[in-house]
Amino acid sequence: MERLQKFMARAGVTSRRRAEEMIREGRVKVNDEIIQEMGCKVDPDTDVVMVDNRPISLNKEKVYILLNKPSKVVTTLHDPQKRVKVTDFLKDVTTRVYPVGRLDYLTEGLLLLTNDGELAFRLTHPKFKVPKTYLAKVKNHITEEALNRLRKGVMLEDGKTMPAFVKKRKLAQGFTLLELTIREGRNRQVRRMCEAVGYPVVALKRISFGPLSLGDMESGQYRFLTEKEIKSLKKACQFH
Ligand code: URA
Repeated sequence: MERLQKFMARAGVTSRRRAEEMIREGRVKVNDEIIQEMGCKVDPDTDVVMVDNRPISLNKEKVYILLNKPSKVVTTLHDPQKRVKVTDFLKDVTTRVYPVGRLDYLTEGLLLLTNDGELAFRLTHPKFKVPKTYLAKVKNHITEEALNRLRKGVMLEDGKTMPAFVKKRKLAQGFTLLELTIREGRNRQVRRMCEAVGYPVVALKRISFGPLSLGDMESGQYRFLTEKEIKSLKKACQFH
């Protein structure tokens, strides 16, 4: 175990003195909990330390994983309800990795996991507008008017959504399958957008994230990204 500010300094975040200030400012979390008192000790091998919501680590080697997240699995690393976690699927991964953004408990599909805090931060920062594509099964047959509202932007309680690419993929009895591409990543955004235009989502799957696609990976399967894919991801968020 070592002192939190020492660990932050060793991970290259800042000096120990400045680390103490950052702790007092409430910018440091250990295992999802904000720590503001001095004297906290962490285990560098098992505790997840985040500064401004970005994971920090001593790891030199960076690991990049793509998982096809099943439904009914949480993306948080510590779940008080002890539900199945995305990291439970990474059987042969010995390095600690963190999900890039979140998928809801019931949402399935492409989830990236990495220990590259800077890349994760950029990929989820609205400034870089990295596109994410979802297949959403919504109740009933959607009207052209509702489709256009989704495309132009919908007023949600946290503001209007940015223009989105929206396409009708399939009509079946009692539902429509939509493809939506958004460049923001607000909490439960796709579900809230569809709900706001009167078509609640009954199933949701992410099929792409920036330049990466899910392809034909089975639910619960994971793979390491290729060098080429890592490069293309970095390019998508101007990380050189
Ligand atoms: N939008 C949602 O509503 N849920 C997700 O999990 C991802 C995007």
